[in-house]
Amino acid sequence: MEIPLIDLRAQYRSIKPEIDEAFQRVVAGGQFILGPEVEALEREVAAYCGTRHGVGVASGTDALELALRACGIGSGDEVITSAFSFVAAAEAVATVGATPVLVDIDARTFTMDPAQAAAAVTPKTKAIIPVHLFGHPCDMDAILDLAHRQHHLVIEDCAQALGARYGGRRVGGLGRAAILSFYPSKNLGAYGDGGMVVTNDEGLSERIRLLRGHGSRARYHHELLGRNSRLDELQAAVLRVKLRHLDDWNAARRRHAQAYAEAFARHGLTQVSLPQEGASCEHVYHLYTVRLMDRDRVQRALDAEGVATQAAYPSILPDQPALAPHVKADGSFPQARQAAEEVLSLPMYPELTAPQIDDVVRGLASVIQRRD
Ligand SMILES: Cc1ncc(COP(=O)(O)O)c(C=O)c1O
Repeated sequence: MEIPLIDLRAQYRSIKPEIDEAFQRVVAGGQFILGPEVEALEREVAAYCGTRHGVGVASGTDALELALRACGIGSGDEVITSAFSFVAAAEAVATVGATPVLVDIDARTFTMDPAQAAAAVTPKTKAIIPVHLFGHPCDMDAILDLAHRQHHLVIEDCAQALGARYGGRRVGGLGRAAILSFYPSKNLGAYGDGGMVVTNDEGLSERIRLLRGHGSRARYHHELLGRNSRLDELQAAVLRVKLRHLDDWNAARRRHAQAYAEAFARHGLTQVSLPQEGASCEHVYHLYTVRLMDRDRVQRALDAEGVATQAAYPSILPDQPALAPHVKADGSFPQARQAAEEVLSLPMYPELTAPQIDDVVRGLASVIQRRD
């Protein structure tokens, strides 16, 4: 049995004629950077998120950094984000010269604990970056309430959660701005790197547009120091095709999560905690992340049986050597630390089949029972 964590070749096979046509169109058109495909993608993704503007950039990490810069966040400012996450948000905050303030998570959803965020506020706090981790929205009512009371900006990190809903609304339109990543394995993934900032704030979108293109509106005239963070036409054309399928793919992921839950029940595997969906949240299962004891041994044994898994994330951000000199990380982060020891992401992608899900759970059951 060989079951990959994700299978991008199966996805390509399912949409091959549309993708091939999109490639042909761009190559024949001869325009490769910031052309009609990027403009159309910006409109389509913004509409999907329920926002007025979208600005395509080179990656999700650049989207974070440019959004922070465009919001005027820099030296002397503090930005609150999660201690258990991918590095990008904290890294971007440190890169613009501000201080990432890391807080513990809610044990059920792996997302920022709003009470911990509230406790971390100081007069220097300028923004909060809630990361909708693994495809599950953060507790946005509590986070937006905190931010509004104290006039903080909220920049949603939707890199793992495009299409997820909170209170019936898609994530991405809930704060001042949101960032997306089109890294190939994301729910909406390019065939290379890419990212976007979506926002209802026209001034902010204009500043990000300037920053992504060397601070220039008119050729060879540079209003501010920017950089090259452009999204290319081939990626945009691919993403436009895939965006048409995103809701179906997310629905398939949700069905697979249900099938996993049923398989775990059938095999009586009560030692494994399954991902949960918070009230008024719709999870899009970018990763299907369970919690179990003795994770590293279980992962090695599954690997030997051909089942690919991933420990995301095996350590917490305050322990990362690159971040340590920059972050403010008061406390011991008990929930984040425990999650880092226990999490294991199982195969999850739209083309996964019911027999494969059963094989994964059967494999897990035999590995766990060998220990018991
Ligand atoms: C939560 C989160 N934020 C930001 C990023 C950064 O995106 P990118 O890899 O496109 O720079 C990622 C990427 O993997 C991510 O998972």
